[in-house]
Amino acid sequence: MNNKQALLNNLHDNIREYCDTYFDFSFNPEKPVVRLHEPTSGSEEIFAALETMLSTFTTMGKKVRAFENQYAAYNGTQYSVMSNSGSSANLLAVAALANPFTPDHLKPGDEVIVPALSWSTTIWPIIQHNLVPVLVDCDLNDFNLDLEKLERAIGPRTRAIKLVHVYGNPCNMDAVMALAKKHNLFVIEDCCEAMGAAYDGKPVGSFGLVGNFSFFFSHHISTMEGGISVTNDFNFTETMRILRAHGWSREADEHQKYVNLYPDIDPRFIFINLGYNLRPTEVNAAMGQLQLPKLDGLIDKRRETADFYARHLSRHAEFFHFQQETPKGKHVWFGFPVILKDGTPFSVKDITAYMQQHHIETRPIIAGNMARHPAFNMYEHRVAGDLSSADTIMKKGFAFACHHAVDERARQYVVDTIDAFVEAFLNGQIQKTA
Ligand SMILES: Cc1ncc(COP(=O)(O)O)c(C=O)c1O
Repeated sequence: MNNKQALLNNLHDNIREYCDTYFDFSFNPEKPVVRLHEPTSGSEEIFAALETMLSTFTTMGKKVRAFENQYAAYNGTQYSVMSNSGSSANLLAVAALANPFTPDHLKPGDEVIVPALSWSTTIWPIIQHNLVPVLVDCDLNDFNLDLEKLERAIGPRTRAIKLVHVYGNPCNMDAVMALAKKHNLFVIEDCCEAMGAAYDGKPVGSFGLVGNFSFFFSHHISTMEGGISVTNDFNFTETMRILRAHGWSREADEHQKYVNLYPDIDPRFIFINLGYNLRPTEVNAAMGQLQLPKLDGLIDKRRETADFYARHLSRHAEFFHFQQETPKGKHVWFGFPVILKDGTPFSVKDITAYMQQHHIETRPIIAGNMARHPAFNMYEHRVAGDLSSADTIMKKGFAFACHHAVDERARQYVVDTIDAFVEAFLNGQIQKTA
């Protein structure tokens, strides 16, 4: 064996030994902690990342393209474009939809419907492209866009729906796509919380024109940072590839077409459109290639844990309301969200403070009603109808861990802690906070 291979083998062995010793995220009853997220990567992904760095081929290249093909095949779509985050995937999708390269593209002042219960970078690309976001309320059963309010929100300037599959629960895509067809609207799916989710057996992201996913640390699988946009439209794919990197034609499949058109310009630097630099690295792709085959197994664990929580916490049904899996949908549980029902004597602050004291991390359900966030004071938008359900989720909702590393002891600890809180509160041993 040559010295190079021996050094790599050594590195591999050392990383494996390190991870075997220190990567133990299972529950320790002596020191209970239930974090919102734990790593999905182990020694193999870390070695692949380092090996990629040692190869010195680290900027976007063959591994990114191979991972794009692998992801598109997993998601049942023809094409995919990887970027450096889920936010960048959202940005690319909107930028391409508002770009002159797209037939019948969106124009300044056109409206795009979004759920009020969504994420900042679901909405910001709409504003960044001089389009107008129209915020619509959610449904308190599945937490996704309220379909009746959605239809009422459609106006003469509405051109697209950018939906979110909230917390991994697929939207009713039969209804959304029927509505989109009736009103001639483009559909963008923000699937950043819903990797691996499906509706009627079909992966989310493959219904609309484009679907966007995130590989951030806290998601179902991770490439550290990273995102991907999937589509069945070749022209749209080419536009996203061009916009992803500077606006040059280099990464377009039809690059040669532009080389022939502009023979006087150096083929490496033909700028045929606007662009950003949203490129992922080969390191991200190397990790993704190893992570993707694990995704379905990781989701099975999330579904099992969600089922356990729902069964055990149903004893507090007078206080807790849970997100309902969409009929025909496969929910992938980004976390486990809970809403306190009207009349519940304790507040979100009371219960989450108790859980925090017992080292169970909690968080809001996404970021609640986005229309309540101060950034909206500065930018044009429309609020369609009332956002009372998104407000309820903001005021009365919270979420905790439902990921692959929540093992049997961890989930038992979570429900026992909640039981103990409810009992202590009802007995007057815990006082309501102001
Ligand atoms: C619905 C939604 N969209 C977009 C994003 C952004 O993804 P990223 O953190 O990879 O930029 C998130 C992040 O969690 C999200 O929940």
